[in-house]
Amino acid sequence: MAPTSTSVLTRRGRLAKDVRRDLEGSQKRLQPKYLYDALGSQLFEAICELPEYRITRAERGLLAAHAGEMGVGLVSPVTLVELGGGSGEKLALLIEPLVQTLRDVSVALVDVSSTAIALATRTLGRYPDLPVTGHETTYEDGLRQAVATRSGDDTILVAFLGSNFGNLDPAEALAFLGRVRSALRAGDRLVLGADLVKPEAELVLSYDDPLGVTAAFNKNLLVRLNRELGANFDLDQFAHRAVWNATASRVEMHLESLCDQTVLLPAANCLVRFTAGESIWTESSYKYNEDGIADMGAAAGFARRDQWVDAEARFAVTVFDAE
Ligand code: AVJ
Repeated sequence: MAPTSTSVLTRRGRLAKDVRRDLEGSQKRLQPKYLYDALGSQLFEAICELPEYRITRAERGLLAAHAGEMGVGLVSPVTLVELGGGSGEKLALLIEPLVQTLRDVSVALVDVSSTAIALATRTLGRYPDLPVTGHETTYEDGLRQAVATRSGDDTILVAFLGSNFGNLDPAEALAFLGRVRSALRAGDRLVLGADLVKPEAELVLSYDDPLGVTAAFNKNLLVRLNRELGANFDLDQFAHRAVWNATASRVEMHLESLCDQTVLLPAANCLVRFTAGESIWTESSYKYNEDGIADMGAAAGFARRDQWVDAEARFAVTVFDAE
């Protein structure tokens, strides 16, 4: 049988295809997963250290304080599957009480970024007996791969931290949770970190920091397209924008064209025209409230087991049971 057109696409071919489709529409966009090349992953790590970006610290605090309760009642063997984890520091907090109390614990790391997997694997090196496997692919693919190798009595704990969930629009988020649920079985668990709605000024500042790290993170997407698709984006002719869309309850990141211009992307076989003020929408970060998170989990077949909120940063970690 002839291979399907997607199966023969290389990584770069997939990027080219996505970019061409997403820059052709009336609202130009680029998928946020493409922000995380090697430099983008490091810039994101830098964002997590910014005083204005509180998500990482707030979540770390909740995990440090409550990881024991999050894993309570789980019996060996347990496989912790982390979707899109980053450096592995928070995963280590979550796993600490498990390795203390359970004989048989293993970890599967799922991330589109090989840099993130390498960083997390290195972090988990502090547990020399902990088996760690990396899956350099999308969340759902990686979860499927990790679940496929589970032994009969394995319990799976899925961690989806850092408000990565916030990148999905509500319909996608619900569908995503539904697919996670159907990959799991009763008794498995999901730990979900989600950012909460807070005052607009605070939200905008956390996505448009005075040092310009988030701007660099956003513009690096254009650097990536210049490198990987031979594009000719002029970085000085685009500006980073972060806006709070209250109706949709999301912070949007855009790259706004500062003039009328045309950009060539030879490897994507396209030419893109921009008018001054027109933007490429590169990311959405949806913000929830406490009950909204629990309701969405319930709609996907999970039962809210527990929820902890950092009152100052307004960030929530929710633990769900697959029922
Ligand atoms: C990694 C998707 C959770 O949306 O807050 C940080 C990414 N973008 N600053 C977020 C991000 C700009 C981050 N997530």
